[in-house]
Parts: sequence; structure tokens; C-alpha cells
Amino acid sequence: MKSSAPGKIILFGEHAVVYGRPALAVPVTQVQVEVNVADSSNAGIWIHAPAVDMHAELSALPSDHPIGSVIHNLFSMLELPLPTRGLEINIESTIPVASGLGSGAAVSVALTRALAMHVERSLSDEQVNNLVYEIEKLYHGTPSGIDNTVITYAKPVYFIKGKPGETFKVGKPFTIIIGDTGIPAPTKQSVADVRRAWLKDTNGFESMFNEIAQIALIARRSIESGRPDMLGELMDHNHALLQRMTVSCSELDALVNAAREAGALGAKLSGGGRGGNMIALVNPEDAEKVAQAVLSAGAKKTLTTEVS
Ligand code: PMV
Repeated sequence: MKSSAPGKIILFGEHAVVYGRPALAVPVTQVQVEVNVADSSNAGIWIHAPAVDMHAELSALPSDHPIGSVIHNLFSMLELPLPTRGLEINIESTIPVASGLGSGAAVSVALTRALAMHVERSLSDEQVNNLVYEIEKLYHGTPSGIDNTVITYAKPVYFIKGKPGETFKVGKPFTIIIGDTGIPAPTKQSVADVRRAWLKDTNGFESMFNEIAQIALIARRSIESGRPDMLGELMDHNHALLQRMTVSCSELDALVNAAREAGALGAKLSGGGRGGNMIALVNPEDAEKVAQAVLSAGAKKTLTTEVS
């Protein structure tokens, strides 16, 4: 049985989303995780994930291992014993690991669905999402839940913590360049730093979060009503607020500035910050030029994706 799941980017609202404000995220289908589950004549449940050099039998994994936990949690939710026959689980991924593109959540989603199909059980998207949220806690500590939601539904999502994500329509497709600083994104760390700063200056941070909430709301309306050109300015504004929250870094700022100078309509960091990715809104005819400029400014790689 085979299942795949896309990567994701956060368009607006990272960090503020941890404090109850809305955020927007979209799937990135150019990168995918694919999980294959097959019966095997070898004993045990074997997991192969060449992208992270993993070849392990389930019982040899630590009890809080995210992949092992997906398997245990799924069978316990289905009220089934672990299979006694041999299983081979192959996880192939083109989503860069630890760069804010949601590779962990995508593995969990695809693995959950492939295993459920293998034991001939059907799961609702809501069940998949809830199960994967529990696994996200093992990766991130206190995740808002936006990654598992956008990847489970594989659609643009307007997300408020603690509520079911709202998927929404894209009135007119738009093009985003994703630039990877190549610096591993320590989401846990930046989330903890924002918490410390928020405790020190609660009023200042609350008012920044409120501005970001407005940005996310206007952005959703612009996307739905087919006015994606309005997103550029909103991205620039959101980036300035993230800089004030101290979650940008010189490498991200360099890529953001290079994108704007090369003709992007707007740019910002995406995700936890301090590394990981930035995104830029471009007219399709400028995509190549902007991607080249982002690479020249130090990006390790770029991806171009159409949000539709
Ligand atoms: O670094 P990413 O793409 O996993 O995103 C983190 C987003 C935050 O808002 C900073 C944290 C969260 O859990 O939503």
C-alpha cells in the first residue's frame, strides 16, 4: 500500500499563531514523502528511510521515536494488535529535513494512511490530523498544529490553534519562490525565545501579534478574491514584524532583500526563523530572475511553487 504527502510553507502568521492568532499555510506539492507498506517474509516490522539513513526494526526504536510512535499510536487507535507477520515500510522523501517544509508531519501523514490502508481500515482526515498532531509534539514540544493540518488536508489552510483548520479556495493562482538558507531551523528555540521576550514585553508583543492577525485576515481575503498581487506588501509588513520579534537573521534578511531587489512583489521568512526558508511572491515571468538572485545572495537551493 502506498500513500504520499506534500511539503508545506507558512505564508503568514508564524509565531503569532502560537498565541491564538490566525496563520495561513499552503501545501508545496513539488516535494513529497511517499510511504510504501508491504508484507514481508522477514520477521518484524522494518522501517527504511534512506533520506535519514534509517534502517531499523520497530522494537529496536526508542519509545518516543516519532516514526515508531506513529505505528504504535495508530494500532492503539484502531484497537488492533501490532501485526505479527513481517512488514517492510519504505519511506522516500524529497522534502528537505529540518528546514521548515514540514518533512516530519508529511512522513507521519503518509505513514499513517499507508498503514491504515494496509490493514484495510479507513481513517477520516480528522483522525489522521489528530494522530499526527500528537506525533508533532514529539518533534517540536508545543506545536500550534498548523503543519499537520495543512499537510493532512493538502489544501490552503486558515488556521487558529485549538480549532479545526479552515481550508479555503485560491481565486487566482500565484507563484512563490522558496529560498533555503541551508541553516537548520531550530523552531523549538525560536518559539522559546519569543516566549521569553513576550513575558518581558507582553503589551509590545501582543500588539505585534494583533497586527499579524490583521495581515493574515486580509491575506486570506486577497487570496480568495483573486487579488494575490496584494500579498507582496503584506509579506513585507509581516517580515518587518518578525524582525522586531528577533526571529529573523542576517542570512534570511539577505535573501529577502535580494528577492525584493530582483523584482519580487514582497518577501518574508517562513516558519520558525533564524534559518530555514524564506518565501517571495513573484510574477511568473520574474521567477527565474528572482530565484537566481536569491541563490547569489547565499541560498543553498530554491524551489518555485504555484499556489492554486
Ligand atoms: O518552522 P516551521 O515551519 O515548523 O513552523 C513553525 C511555526 C511556528 O509558528 C513558529 C511554531 C508553530 O508551532 O506554529
